[in-house]
Amino acid sequence: MNILSIESSCDETAAAIISGNPFSKEAHPEILSNVVVSQIDIFKAYGGVIPEVAARSHLEAILPVIHQAFKEANFTSTDKSGNPKDDWDKIDAIAVTHTPGLLGSLLIGTLTARTLAILHNKPLYAVHHLKSHIYSNWLGNERVPVFPILALVISGGHTQIIRMTEHNHFEIIGTTYDDAVGECFDKVAKILGLPYPGGPSIAKAAKNGDPKKYHLPHPQIKDLDFSFSGLKTAVLRAVQKEVGVPISYPSHQLKDLLSEQQVADFAASFEQTACEILLEKLEKALEKYPDTRSIVFAGGVSANNRLRKKCLGLLATTGSPRQRERTIGSPPVTTGRTTGARGANNLNIFFPEPCFSGDNAAMVGAAAFYEIASGVQPTDPLSLNILPRSTIK
Ligand SMILES: Nc1ncnc2c1ncn2[C@@H]1O[C@H](COP(=O)(O)OP(=O)(O)OP(=O)(O)O)[C@@H](O)[C@H]1O
Ligand SMILES: [Mg+2]
Repeated sequence: MNILSIESSCDETAAAIISGNPFSKEAHPEILSNVVVSQIDIFKAYGGVIPEVAARSHLEAILPVIHQAFKEANFTSTDKSGNPKDDWDKIDAIAVTHTPGLLGSLLIGTLTARTLAILHNKPLYAVHHLKSHIYSNWLGNERVPVFPILALVISGGHTQIIRMTEHNHFEIIGTTYDDAVGECFDKVAKILGLPYPGGPSIAKAAKNGDPKKYHLPHPQIKDLDFSFSGLKTAVLRAVQKEVGVPISYPSHQLKDLLSEQQVADFAASFEQTACEILLEKLEKALEKYPDTRSIVFAGGVSANNRLRKKCLGLLATTGSPRQRERTIGSPPVTTGRTTGARGANNLNIFFPEPCFSGDNAAMVGAAAFYEIASGVQPTDPLSLNILPRSTIK
């Protein structure tokens, strides 16, 4: 089965073609093409996404991006006049992100997919964006996660711990009360005068910084839930204190008072604290669910190298004997662990390949692949709606 998938939930216009047999137990999706056009360069000038500009950019890009996905998959033939055309006979289904995301952005991808499904008479699958981020871990790895799974979804709009006991079955066991961790990276980068998107800028600046230079508090949130708005404010107050200005001082002018080294030290201290908060909760979740066989990281923040390295440290201290066997993903890791109560468990950790950690359409195709494998039926292309906010189900 070949699935054309479309993603436009935020500021990336993406299309992919993935292939595989969802009804064969051992089969996993193979990527035939994966095209992403990012609007990052447009939004660097503004320091963040402007929803209406994003929607207009999707409108311009969506058809060329889909055409490019056909080309890269070699799914083109020639028409009667000898001109190349997309070979729709090779497509068996269409999948599209219809929730959650920016309203205007979702509308462009969803309406395009609805139209193409009707025009070419293809079944249409409506995919939840967080499912796609989770299923990015089933792409490009020779090994795939084993259930039960704990998924740490860390993106620009979400911070959640999700337990999966089988495909297409999601239980949210922890969530943020306020900001998402990616949003926090973006806001802290703004305070420090680092360019959008904040995550990669902070990671770059932090390389030259001292992560212990500034002490930032860990929020005292119960159970497996998170809060990141306090951390952002803590960075703001620490910067104000460091440069000796009152809290009423305009935050967008603070960057002019910071030296390059101070920016690096703040970036490193913040990055370190954010990673510690995430991994503390993950450790708690592992204690609560000791039958966990795989941890999967999902969403843009999973590209963070400090997080990846610290995760290895977490596993080295989780149970005994300590044993690092191999790596999966990027850096793919497998560790063996023994939990006191349950005996020996092999715990696999998966990070998406960096090219799949941000928004892309290959992961939408992977999510649709496992939905089809789980018996999910196609949706009605005439009535599929978009939802800017929704819970993964
Ligand atoms: N190396 C990195 N370290 C930390 N954060 C990063 C890194 N690379 C990207 N990010 C962050 O990831 C976020 C973007 O991820 P993603 O594209 O998954 O989010 P989104 O699609 O905007 O939101 P959502 O998926 O919740 O709808 C941004 O906040 C960005 O700063
Ligand atoms: Mg996303």
